[in-house]
Amino acid sequence: MTLNALRQTAEAMVEPGQGILAMDESTPTIGKRLKAVGVENTEDNRIAYRTILLDTPGLGESISSAILYDETIRQSTAEGEPFPELVKRQGIIPGIKVDTGAKALALNAGEKVTEGLDGLRERLEEYVGFGAQFCKWRAVITIAEETPSRACIEANAHALARYAALCQEAGLVPIVEPEVLINGAHTIETSYAVTVETQRQVFEQLYRQGVQLEGMILKPSMVISGTECPQRSGVEQVAEATLRCLQQTVPAAVPGVAFLSGGQDDVQATQHLNAMNQMAAQRSLPWRLTFSYARALQNQVLETWRGDASKAEQASEALLHRAKLNALASLGKYAPEMEHAAQRGAR
Ligand code: 13P
Repeated sequence: MTLNALRQTAEAMVEPGQGILAMDESTPTIGKRLKAVGVENTEDNRIAYRTILLDTPGLGESISSAILYDETIRQSTAEGEPFPELVKRQGIIPGIKVDTGAKALALNAGEKVTEGLDGLRERLEEYVGFGAQFCKWRAVITIAEETPSRACIEANAHALARYAALCQEAGLVPIVEPEVLINGAHTIETSYAVTVETQRQVFEQLYRQGVQLEGMILKPSMVISGTECPQRSGVEQVAEATLRCLQQTVPAAVPGVAFLSGGQDDVQATQHLNAMNQMAAQRSLPWRLTFSYARALQNQVLETWRGDASKAEQASEALLHRAKLNALASLGKYAPEMEHAAQRGAR
């Protein structure tokens, strides 16, 4: 696999006017989401739900790529179509989450390090066989009184870089996701400082491991006030701080930045992305800025479906609306009135 092929995939993943659908929840995590809408976490229900997402007519217009979970890439729909085939039929690039989760970091209370490097080379080979073209690995950085520690930032940055190198060796584009959690009472200024430090470390480690920046995607969190912070950050403030943070830390060779939603509500996540792209149009920024949301794309789908097969079509429409609004935001062309138009359309 040449760098050129990796670069082509990475660029297609951040195609202007498109974003990434993250649907790589592990079985316990999807279980939480299903439980919240009264649905049991059975294999059949997971298949039914993920079929609604991926079989949405026209999804490929706003969605360039979909991140699948290990279970899903091996499964088929109730009609017998393998999920990776369904994804490709929609004109969407299939990818796979390959980390095995964030575990407690030894000797550092309250902090986590993401695992999954052991045996990864062999697993990647298998995923290539299933048609995957890119991977995802999420590291978690927690802001609290005494954290994050250097130990946590360095261990996670190092693991991300080793994962990314293995992906590129296998011809897969790594999505590098250092998530600074939104949970906590921290201000936007603290979020900025921690995110700058984290991303600096991540790019330092990527450089040391020889990762080709043209063939990767960064999936960062936005710079935002913590959920318990009394001073809530405004849309312009988040957009300004996040862009500034990217400018301080992300080399120009990276083709695209695809944000996670991180627990922001759906509309907020769209507004922030839109504001950043509007500001980006005034500056000459080297990377495309788009979305790679899970919750902020799926919340309404789950709420609408609630396990009722007769609501499947309406649930698909909810996904399509949200995906389109985010696709417009990735071009800086979203407007709040479109929310109401979308709701009317869904009724
Ligand atoms: P959220 O958009 O729900 O934060 O999830 C992003 C993610 O990392 C899943 O791949």
